[in-house]
Amino acid sequence: MSSPYDQPQPVLGAVTDRGEKILLRPAEMRDVDAIFAACTDPESQRWTTLSAAYDRDRAVGFVTDYAPGWWAREQGATWVVTDAAGAYAAQIDLRVLAADPKIADVGFLTGPDARGKGYMTAALRTAAAYGLLHLGLERVEWKAHVGNVASRRVAEKAGFTFEGTLRAYGSKDGRRVDEWIASLLPADLPVDATVEVIA
Ligand SMILES: CC(C)(COP(=O)(O)OP(=O)(O)OC[C@H]1O[C@@H](n2cnc3c(N)ncnc32)[C@H](O)[C@@H]1OP(=O)(O)O)[C@@H](O)C(=O)NCCC(=O)NCCS
Repeated sequence: MSSPYDQPQPVLGAVTDRGEKILLRPAEMRDVDAIFAACTDPESQRWTTLSAAYDRDRAVGFVTDYAPGWWAREQGATWVVTDAAGAYAAQIDLRVLAADPKIADVGFLTGPDARGKGYMTAALRTAAAYGLLHLGLERVEWKAHVGNVASRRVAEKAGFTFEGTLRAYGSKDGRRVDEWIASLLPADLPVDATVEVIA
């Protein structure tokens, strides 16, 4: 039986709530400087598990190894989100859980100059719908450190249902932190939901 993973990682189209056409595409070497800037931004460092020692070599490794690795292992995908002009705006991971291949979680960040324009809401809607409609997932999970209200707002705008707080579920700088959790199920999608698979 054919699988999406038999083909190269797809490029997906999406439209923000402001009407801007964006793309979710595989990471490329031309994204390295923007990835480095986004991953070393103080808000990205504050709310993710990205290393404080993140350097340009890690951004290169993200493009050459980390990002393509999810699709190559048939465990989901990492996409770069580009704005209408084709420039890097954000990045999003859809990561199938090793413990249950019907569940994936998401991880994302938007470059500091691109925040507040609806990019992540559209990207999360699209990546999650792709997982549920094309990869056979039965649940997509969002988690964030408690207090990350911008991320929670994105999850809720993308249709995720808030489920509560997981005490001491995450870790940050060597200490346990509480995490919020929300999910999106196939039944939560609009009946006519589709994903624009461009290539
Ligand atoms: C969270 C993040 C990815 C959102 O990306 P984005 O592209 O700006 O998201 P959107 O523009 O689609 O939506 C952001 C929403 O959060 C809201 N928001 C932003 N900062 C906020 C704050 N401090 N308090 C409340 N709401 C906030 C925005 O107003 C917007 O909601 P609205 O459309 O109702 O006004 C981005 O802020 C980011 O990269 N943060 C640092 C990394 C991070 O936290 N990653 C997620 C880890 S779980």
